[in-house]
Amino acid sequence: MRSSCPARQGRSPSWSPPGRPVPGRAEPVDVTRPVAPGKATGGRRDPRDAAGSTAVGRHQQQDGSTVPAGGEIGGSTGTGTLTVDLPVRGRPVLVAGGGPPALGRIAALRAAGALVTVVSTHPADAVTDLADRGLITLHRREITDADLREALLVVTATGDPELDAGLAEAAERAGRLTLSGSGAVAVEPAVERRVSGGRVVLVGGGPGDPGLITVAGMAAVAEADVLVVDRLAPLAVLQRARDGAQIIDVSKIPHGPSTSQDEINRLLVTHARAGRTVVRLKGGDNFVFGRGGEEWQACEAAGIDVRIVPGVSSATAAPALAGIPVTHRTLNQGYTVVTAHVPPGDPRSTLDWAALARTGTALVLMMGLKTLPEVCSTLIGHGLDPATPAATVADAGLPSQRRVVGTVADIADRTREAGLKAPAVTVIGSVAAFDPRRTD
Ligand SMILES: C[S@@+](CC[C@H](N)C(=O)[O-])C[C@H]1O[C@@H](n2cnc3c(N)ncnc32)[C@H](O)[C@@H]1O
Repeated sequence: MRSSCPARQGRSPSWSPPGRPVPGRAEPVDVTRPVAPGKATGGRRDPRDAAGSTAVGRHQQQDGSTVPAGGEIGGSTGTGTLTVDLPVRGRPVLVAGGGPPALGRIAALRAAGALVTVVSTHPADAVTDLADRGLITLHRREITDADLREALLVVTATGDPELDAGLAEAAERAGRLTLSGSGAVAVEPAVERRVSGGRVVLVGGGPGDPGLITVAGMAAVAEADVLVVDRLAPLAVLQRARDGAQIIDVSKIPHGPSTSQDEINRLLVTHARAGRTVVRLKGGDNFVFGRGGEEWQACEAAGIDVRIVPGVSSATAAPALAGIPVTHRTLNQGYTVVTAHVPPGDPRSTLDWAALARTGTALVLMMGLKTLPEVCSTLIGHGLDPATPAATVADAGLPSQRRVVGTVADIADRTREAGLKAPAVTVIGSVAAFDPRRTD
């Protein structure tokens, strides 16, 4: 006998009274029987898994027994559940529900390469967008038995626990694997997938605060056999390196000790050739004045596999951490990042300072503390209004962070008088005087 499901109408997917199919469509599933607690929950994925698997934790078999599955067995809990790696790449997975509660699961399934079909009467805009771009299949209707039968895995994500439980029960009756309740589809950053043989992972560590390294960057650090690090990297994250990992300091101290780029390249190649996973951890983003391209070239020439984990560059993060948005709709239409390690007029400088003075974009000067007086006077000499706001931010993201504000005419003096030291960026442009309380 069927009884009414307490699920509210208007949820996605909406539920129709049993036996009352949507005209012209297959009969909606019966979601009326309660599901036993703890029936299908998520589990952690073994980081050694092959690409295209997704962890489906604790799937209860129909007879309550645990059955070795094709994937790797992560552990049996004695509750009739099993943690397995489920190979979903290229296989159909049904997500029941397309509202905000489903967004994370849809993204994780897509990341694992599943062929995702979402059934939802009220999909979120982000889900509609994925369907419009052909990245998922979306049915704006109620779920049917046929939907359940076609899927390798049914993931319930309506946001309504009772409706989810009923859908999970219906899916299990149809013989489908289900993931519901508090179960999560584990997402592992691509870089965490180990490959055999040595390789180099270029990891951008962000401006210095260990909270500003990416999840993928953190995972790479935790997996590394060897970490080749710079002083501007968020060195606190090295505490997450695994026991026995080798840490090599190759800091380049301005006017102090430094390791040559050739030696750094040699270290990367040598350790990777020995079969190790080498993480090259730098501050900011390795491809923004970070010599990441050169290190990649050196590895490529030696036939070493390279992966890139972008970082949060200090070019935008340092201003942001000091309250300066490098773009603001009413103030500018762009920003320009340059290195000022050599002054205007220096034969090594390839920058067109006259053009930079006219861009109308915010200028972000990197490595420019020493040359700041010449840079500012050159910009003014090429017509930049001396009253243009400017700010210098030092040690962004570190407890020692400092900010000095002024104009392009006096920022060099103010920065020097305040005793700001590298690393620092200077922002020149109206955004440097940004005040979130003012909207005029
Ligand atoms: C060799 S570049 C490396 C930039 C780095 N790859 C990035 O994306 O942030 C070094 C310069 O970055 C800037 N910088 C790096 N970390 C900084 C921080 N925490 N605060 C302010 N500026 C920083 C300074 O201009 C410094 O001289």
